[in-house]
Amino acid sequence: MKGLILVGGYGTRLRPLTLTKPKPLVEFGNRPMILHQIEALAEAGVTDIVLAVNYRPEDMVDTLQKYEKEYGVNITFSVETEPLGTAGPLKLAEKVLAKDPSPFFVLNSDVICNYPFKEMIEFHNAHGGEGTIVATKVEDPSKYGVIVHHPGTTKIDRFVEKPVTFVGNRINAGIYILNPSVIDLIELRPTSIEKETFPALAKKGTLHSFDLEGYWMDVGQPKDFLAGTGLYLNSLGVRNPEMLVPKDASYLHSGHVLVHPTAKISPSAKLGPNVVVGPGVEIGDGARISRSVIMSNAVVKPHAHVKQTIVGWNSRIGRWARTENVTVLGDDVEIQDEIYVNGGRVLPHKSIGSNVEKPEIIM
Ligand code: GDD
Ligand code: MG
Repeated sequence: MKGLILVGGYGTRLRPLTLTKPKPLVEFGNRPMILHQIEALAEAGVTDIVLAVNYRPEDMVDTLQKYEKEYGVNITFSVETEPLGTAGPLKLAEKVLAKDPSPFFVLNSDVICNYPFKEMIEFHNAHGGEGTIVATKVEDPSKYGVIVHHPGTTKIDRFVEKPVTFVGNRINAGIYILNPSVIDLIELRPTSIEKETFPALAKKGTLHSFDLEGYWMDVGQPKDFLAGTGLYLNSLGVRNPEMLVPKDASYLHSGHVLVHPTAKISPSAKLGPNVVVGPGVEIGDGARISRSVIMSNAVVKPHAHVKQTIVGWNSRIGRWARTENVTVLGDDVEIQDEIYVNGGRVLPHKSIGSNVEKPEIIM
């Protein structure tokens, strides 16, 4: 089978992390975001994966060649000279996606869940339509695409992208399986699958939706990245609890904590809930970390308090320093001893020597 991942954009909402790494390679749960999807696609029998990009593929080529071998898949880049939106890239990759009549997967690169690919194939084949969209429920549907059904069926009646008035709370999870015939509806120009292709398919009555079980999150912005990390760790706690820090670890404060085996953590530190610690990280005596992600080779000095923070690669948080409220530190940032940062976004290579009292970008 075949699959296309919409990697696209500049990942501006995940800055300053994406100033250093393209979004798909930013680690989520200690593995590049895109690897979660590649692994799940490979497991479902996908052998050809197209990455639709309009940004720095050269940074990703080496890493992805490694995954090709590891997972036994062919990964190709389909590079746009201008951003083609969410539908145009399907047309651009027509040669691969329509090389045989079997359906193909399409994924937004920023969505995480327990990808239900095998179940989707069965469901898609059983309903016989042209497309299947995975649906999930959210409290605030206004930033998503909303799916409205024909009553009592799985057939989609209407698809409304970013509705301004309430139409429902079952939304597009950004995961599809489509027949090659869908590509015939798409022109090679910047175009939106949500605004153009899905409404057209719904009108034809050939678009169905498949309800997702379990957690789901679009992790394309820092707040959701942290919330999604919590959901992911929770799911690991159910499916692979042996991957998490054991309940009797001296530094476990509460909840789920994932620590890379090469990290060094003081026994008197207190971690949790919802913490990910990357490779080579050092955490000092009495440090307190909750709802945070510490990327590789960062250092958290003794008695620092790190809460709701993404600490970028190689960054250092000083003694008794405190960060919170969705603070994001880019690569190689220093927060000096005893400094307080409230919701700061700190660009790579900065050293912060005075308090950041309210959320702002520090360039
Ligand atoms: N190749 C390519 N080219 N990819 C693109 C482009 C482009 O021009 N524009 C966006 N993408 C990719 C993004 O990188 C992302 O993986 C995906 O397409 C969706 O774009 P987002 O910018 O993340 O859209 P969204 O989150 O506002 O909304 C989409 O996702 C929601 C679920 O998270 C829509 O599909 C909604 O309907 C959906 O509910
Ligand atoms: Mg998104």
